[in-house]
Amino acid sequence: MRKYFIQTFGCQMNEHDSEIIAGMLEERGYIAADAPEEADLIIFNTCCVRENPERKVYGRVADLKRLKRANPDLIIGICGCMVQQEGEAERIAAKLPHVDLVFGTMNLHRLPELLDRVEAGHKAVEVWDEEGGIVEHLPVRRADAVSAWVTIMYGCNNFCSYCIVPYVRGRERSRRFEDIVEEVKSLGRAGYREVVLLGQNVNSFGRDLEDGRDFADLLQALDGTPGIYRIRYTTSHPRDFSQKLIDTIAASRTVCEHFHLPLQAGSDRVLARMNRGYTQAQYLDLVRRIRKAVPGSSITTDLIVGFPGETEEDFLQTLKVVQEVRFDSAFTFVFSPRRGTAAARMEDQVPEDVKSERIQRLIEVQEAITVEINRGLAGKVVEVLVEGESKTNPAMLAGRTRTNKLVIFPRDDRACKGSLVKVRITKPQAWTQIGEVVDG
Ligand code: SAM
Ligand code: SF4
Ligand code: F3S
Repeated sequence: MRKYFIQTFGCQMNEHDSEIIAGMLEERGYIAADAPEEADLIIFNTCCVRENPERKVYGRVADLKRLKRANPDLIIGICGCMVQQEGEAERIAAKLPHVDLVFGTMNLHRLPELLDRVEAGHKAVEVWDEEGGIVEHLPVRRADAVSAWVTIMYGCNNFCSYCIVPYVRGRERSRRFEDIVEEVKSLGRAGYREVVLLGQNVNSFGRDLEDGRDFADLLQALDGTPGIYRIRYTTSHPRDFSQKLIDTIAASRTVCEHFHLPLQAGSDRVLARMNRGYTQAQYLDLVRRIRKAVPGSSITTDLIVGFPGETEEDFLQTLKVVQEVRFDSAFTFVFSPRRGTAAARMEDQVPEDVKSERIQRLIEVQEAITVEINRGLAGKVVEVLVEGESKTNPAMLAGRTRTNKLVIFPRDDRACKGSLVKVRITKPQAWTQIGEVVDG
């Protein structure tokens, strides 16, 4: 039996691509290895949204020379977003000559043919720079038994000036409405209890389809799918978050009360230079309308500090919005210039020491808010979807609230994997909440 090991970097989109890669490999007779040392095929599914993960990939793949020397039949592959960057395949060939297989984000489905070549002793390097059609019915080896990722659209048309994603994932392409509905139905039948709909900007879903239906229509169609208790989605762009969408979510039973709304920056000047298409006031108005229509919802965000030209006053605007909205949590990033993007060419780059000072201040402010909000959960009874054993403590079970807060609690007869249970929060903390199962 040949064994494979996949190491994934980046967002859920990449995690899900890795599930499809695993599906294709298992169809070919490969089985999963527990560690790279045991594998006959190692694939790195890469991310290039910031510089750090990219450096890590080069380091890790260079380390594999040792394994390859011990086992010359070992196949090493690199795929994903990094590979799609201009000149990257050539760079990989020059710097990492022990790599046998290179493929991009748009020709994932070609893996079996490429492996035929590699298994016959050749190298296979194939990266498409134009998106082909959407390939349906690829095999999937899902990593989780409770929650399933479902891609609803590929690519991005937004070209936020800092972002590499539109260059490496191509233009927006929506899957057919019926294909998505069918997939979610079959997930419900197969015992999955939650679906997470994926797209770089799910709010643009359907714009390229002929049938006139949009993301709100999709949520409405999926709500109530037998077996599916919860629907989540990521990521939604604040600019395109329509009132129709808010009202649809408010009226739905299974779409969760969690809104991930990447703000990126608080200053209108920076937002304009980022090409985000909304102002601070519009963002705040959106938050207000969401909270009015969906009481008790959690709101989380992504923030970037040190965008070119960001002054102390601009940064203070980010802090101001953070304090005003009181996000449940935030992913905070230091601006990382990406080759080929507009922001990387801007002249007024912010010095590294200023960036790191700002991110520390931002994290401090946000963490205090997160802790304060979660403290308010003490004694409350929440509905948790049990995901399984806690990763950090096998004596405990773990699950999430509808608002996407991680809760751990002692094992209990009333709680099995995939069930909904009532949990009273006994000890709220910054990231993980501790609780106990109660009747109800
Ligand atoms: N499409 C989603 C959106 O619009 O929010 C997610 C895009 S990206 C995968 C996730 C986050 O990475 C972004 O929201 C942004 O905060 C951050 N990001 C993207 N490019 C970046 C860059 N060049 N430097 C620092 N952070 C970046
Ligand atoms: Fe990047 Fe903006 Fe597209 Fe998100 S919406 S993937 S941040 S270009
Ligand atoms: Fe990274 Fe590609 Fe996702 S660049 S964040 S893996 S779309």
